[in-house]
Amino acid sequence: MTHIYDVAVIGAGAAGMMCAAVAGQRGLRVVLIDHADKLAEKIRISGGGRCNFTNLGAGPANFLSENPHFCRSALAGYGPRDFLELLRRHGVAWHEKHRGQLFCDDTSESIIDVLRAECGAGQVQWRMGCGVAEIAREAAGADGDAAARAGAPDGVFVLRTTTAGTLRAAKLVIATGGMAIPQLGATDYGLKVARQFGLKVVEPRPALVPLTFDPALWQPFAALSGVALEAGVRSGQGEFLEDLLFTHRGLSGPAILQISSYWNPGEPLSLDLAPGLDLGQDLVAAKPGNRQQLGTVLAGLWPRRLAEAWLEGDGLATQRLADIPDKTLRALAARIHDWTLVPTGTAGYKKAEVMRGGVDTRGLDQKSMQARAVSGLHFIGEAVDVTGWLGGYNFQWAWASAVACGKAL
Ligand code: FDA
Repeated sequence: MTHIYDVAVIGAGAAGMMCAAVAGQRGLRVVLIDHADKLAEKIRISGGGRCNFTNLGAGPANFLSENPHFCRSALAGYGPRDFLELLRRHGVAWHEKHRGQLFCDDTSESIIDVLRAECGAGQVQWRMGCGVAEIAREAAGADGDAAARAGAPDGVFVLRTTTAGTLRAAKLVIATGGMAIPQLGATDYGLKVARQFGLKVVEPRPALVPLTFDPALWQPFAALSGVALEAGVRSGQGEFLEDLLFTHRGLSGPAILQISSYWNPGEPLSLDLAPGLDLGQDLVAAKPGNRQQLGTVLAGLWPRRLAEAWLEGDGLATQRLADIPDKTLRALAARIHDWTLVPTGTAGYKKAEVMRGGVDTRGLDQKSMQARAVSGLHFIGEAVDVTGWLGGYNFQWAWASAVACGKAL
């Protein structure tokens, strides 16, 4: 039996559910397809189980893309306050944690429930546990009803699915996300579909991901695993002041996850381990008559383990501050304010929160997310080359791109 829809959405995650709901509530017949058996696993595990579902300050400056202006229109059309209004209608309580980051008071399941209910209100039909083996385009006028053909002047999309037979739809939305956490069913499917239809793809890479270092060079710091402190971090065009975490293999924590999106292989990172201070000046000023050992002085600023590891080898840890030449203190402070190191890589998609890169937005219309060269084919969410900072921005992009698309279908 052939099923004909106005819209088929592949990927029932954050963006796919939102888009299906908006289109369905406009009266379109929508089918939402996902190869996973369990709905929206990434929403479920996000934000430590409470889903950092948006950021009050979300704007174009919080996103990376080879086409930085692309996200403007969608973000302006559907902002954090719009999503909050949706949550208010469903009675979902939330709180602000840090720097505009909004989380559910209860679990992230509340967000999934909201989206499921919104899809219900739009009579969206679900096909979970269903893959799409093949997508083809069938000339208008072939098998299909008049309404569907009317919406598809260039022909309907024919989806040969693994468990739901052949589905036909006038429009096709790809919302299959990025490749982060393949163990949850993440795939590069969106990129494959883009290439099938001749769209360009910006090279995908793990982002919001820990960075790793040469094991031999990292050996003196491996013992610091678990040490955390606030640090400034810079690489390329990126600069953040956030918490830094030492791990066995390298560095993690919000500061590193943020900068990882800006870091390219071979490039250095610069870390300021005493942000907001002029440490050279402060140490020199504190010198007169100061009989404290330098290790003790630095332990007042940092976790003791870090102070000890940093001074090991210099022979400075046990010297009294008053006895150390100004020049030595200033050189030490300069290294602390600008610790430059070159990562060997990232911890990969298994540990990444998102994929950077994706479907090249220069081939998409920013108002509808439709491929410029393929009428009726749309890409939304993380599959697109728009990557948000850590802190609720990626969900905001999922909602905003989905709503823009859902309204334009
Ligand atoms: P999403 O990944 O949500 O959905 C894609 C869907 O497509 C999935 O259901 C998948 O099963 C399906 N799919 C994939 N391939 C398919 C195929 N071949 N056929 C059929 N279906 C297919 N962001 C944020 O803003 N705040 C946060 O707190 C967090 N926290 C967080 C924690 C962790 C551990 C991770 C990994 C990620 C986050 N994120 C986040 C990022 C956020 O989860 C992500 O950016 C959005 O879920 C992207 O929404 P999409 O709908 O584009 O993809």
